[in-house]
Amino acid sequence: MIPEKPLYEGKAKSVYLSENPDELIVVFRNDMTAFNGVKHDQFTDKGILNATASEFFMKMLEAEGIPTHYIRMAAPDTMIVRRLDMIPLEVIVRNIAAGSMTKKYPVAEGTVLERPVVSIDYKDDERGDPMINDDLIEVLHILPADELKQVKEMALKVNTVLSRFFDECGIRLVDFKLEFGKAAGKIYLGDEISMDSMRLWDKQTGESFDKDVYRFDKGDVITAYRNVLRRILPDGGKKD
Ligand SMILES: Nc1ncnc2c1ncn2[C@@H]1O[C@H](COP(=O)(O)OP(=O)(O)OP(=O)(O)O)[C@@H](O)[C@H]1O
Ligand SMILES: [Mg+2]
Repeated sequence: MIPEKPLYEGKAKSVYLSENPDELIVVFRNDMTAFNGVKHDQFTDKGILNATASEFFMKMLEAEGIPTHYIRMAAPDTMIVRRLDMIPLEVIVRNIAAGSMTKKYPVAEGTVLERPVVSIDYKDDERGDPMINDDLIEVLHILPADELKQVKEMALKVNTVLSRFFDECGIRLVDFKLEFGKAAGKIYLGDEISMDSMRLWDKQTGESFDKDVYRFDKGDVITAYRNVLRRILPDGGKKD
């Protein structure tokens, strides 16, 4: 049973306490936001589509030896997860230049990077999620150096697994954002891996299948999200 009051209500998910103190209930809502909440809409089925993708990828990564917070699904839009002390960092891995990278640095959208690049933002909406570096992360006691190294290695391994998988599905994994947390001294991958948190381009046409469809009014975002599930799920996402 979901308690009445969420522990935390984010922009796209609501987090509830569970009867088990080591677990949390995460509900993927139909809310869609962009530009730090400036643009906001609701789309039927959006929560289920992202929860389904997240479940699929968390299980895949767990099977590849990456510890994740995923425990089980309680409903198509509701995931039971291990309760973590979240590390307030957004760990971004980029394979192809797009989005903010092309605004901030002299590189054209679509440029294939020489190697995957990890960049890290400090997760703080009020400060606009500023980019942070290893020295600041250590000196501000956000994470000790050895754990930061571990987080980066995990992020790159996630990239290897996901890039290979998407390639087989005819999709280019352009970039994505991860969040990590700790429980009993161990680092786990938390939050979500969904069409909200990745940039995905069709290998043939370059068409976007991710939140950019919503950000830049490129078409019907739910159709785009369904296209991803159709390509990645063994049953073609029929349960949606
Ligand atoms: N396993 C976990 N244990 C504890 N907190 C978690 C776990 N996984 C994710 N979270 C946190 O739950 C919240 C999920 O809500 P949501 O992603 O909607 O909000 P947000 O991150 O504040 O906003 P946005 O993602 O739009 O910037 C985030 O704060 C995320 O860091
Ligand atoms: Mg979030």
